[in-house]
Amino acid sequence: MEEVIKIEGGHRLHGTVRISGSKNSTVALIPACVLGNAPITIYGVPNISDVKSLIVLLKELNVEVKQLDEETLYIDPTHMENVAMVSNAVSKLRASYYFMGALLGKYGHAQIQMPGGCYLGPRPIDLHLKGFEALGATITYEHGCYILHADELIGNRIFLDISSVGATINIMMAAVYAKGRTVIENAAREPEIIDIATLLNKMGAKIHGMGTSTLVIDGVEDLKGCSHEIIPDRIEAATYIIMAAAMADDMIIENIIPQHIEAILMKLEEIGIEMKVGPDFVEIFGNDKELRPAEILTKPYPGFATDVQQPFTTLLTRAKGQSIVTETIYTERFKHCNELNKMGADIDVRIPSGLINGPTKLSGTSVVATDLRCGAALVVAGLMADGVTEIHDVYHIDRGYDHLDEKLRSLGAVFWRETIE
Ligand code: EPU
Repeated sequence: MEEVIKIEGGHRLHGTVRISGSKNSTVALIPACVLGNAPITIYGVPNISDVKSLIVLLKELNVEVKQLDEETLYIDPTHMENVAMVSNAVSKLRASYYFMGALLGKYGHAQIQMPGGCYLGPRPIDLHLKGFEALGATITYEHGCYILHADELIGNRIFLDISSVGATINIMMAAVYAKGRTVIENAAREPEIIDIATLLNKMGAKIHGMGTSTLVIDGVEDLKGCSHEIIPDRIEAATYIIMAAAMADDMIIENIIPQHIEAILMKLEEIGIEMKVGPDFVEIFGNDKELRPAEILTKPYPGFATDVQQPFTTLLTRAKGQSIVTETIYTERFKHCNELNKMGADIDVRIPSGLINGPTKLSGTSVVATDLRCGAALVVAGLMADGVTEIHDVYHIDRGYDHLDEKLRSLGAVFWRETIE
């Protein structure tokens, strides 16, 4: 028995969609909450399966979690216990590795099995470990588990060879209690990192330089409770904007921070999409006009986000001529292209690039969401295609898109789920 998503394509979208809190912020904010010894309330929590997995992990650590309303979580680590994290939930998402930094920072000890998450090619965590070691931790790997230990963490200067989002956040969490000053050079600058640092500072941490490539963390002795509203999800926003560009005459995407998706909006204008950008919304005037091809190079923020590359590729199947998408973050992140080709696209994958020859007409067939954003690319394709598209392995999509079904149906999409043998 398997649940599949079905989309009858070709229906125009219209109306307004409200963007939820950022998945990639939330999955780091939740582990960050356990650094203190007092309750934290988080607003704007998306209803996605990654959050459910993290709640399971919190409960295993004896952290009290209450869902105050649909979007509000109350997290109280007062009676927390630093147990080994070896359950199934760890392997369900990559972000479980944020407990490494949080537990090491708080207790000087963490035991956690290798995290899971989308397969986008190799995803090493050497930079995280290098950072922990620079703070004084010893790391062993036994029976599929990392064991991190430090009698005392001491601030240090750390240079990240790659400005990794995960390593920046993880080292920042490990360093909040470290003695003295930690400086992370070549730190990642993604908005989600600012969001985590903002929460930690509200708790009493001393983090400076957020949003720049030099993060400075002065160790403190105690962290307290607070409340925090998560930033809107820039990847979810971009996904709906792409859907609008493909299938709406006039659609509003609200509760967004347009500066966070500047690179994507510029690319959309370049290929011929008209829009109005407001302070917290974008109005997209899609049309059936021929689109111009584009060259896209994925880059760390503020460059074109790798997570948006996949759904954007679907839109480019409508452009006349050859578009080239080149991945500099995850060079193998092209599995969606095979699925799009099954639907009639003409994409030649020559890693690290995909050459998209268009325009091609997409037609509904059975496809597989091989990872979260591949799933997003296929949902966009399903909306554009003739006939019915059947998407398998939808659990990937449910890891990251809050209320997808309701949002799409309210926009006029013909979208449903079926359980099949
Ligand atoms: N890297 C290393 N060593 C490390 C860490 C990273 O070589 O120790 C490499 C990676 O292999 C990759 C590059 O550095 O080539 C950047 O990886 P980064 O660490 O920045 O990625 P991440 O933290 O694992 C987050 C998001 C991803 C998003 C990337 C890039 C979360 C939970 N995940 O992953 O989001 O693609 O940053 O922006 O925040 C998604 O939402 O679908 C998703 C995969």
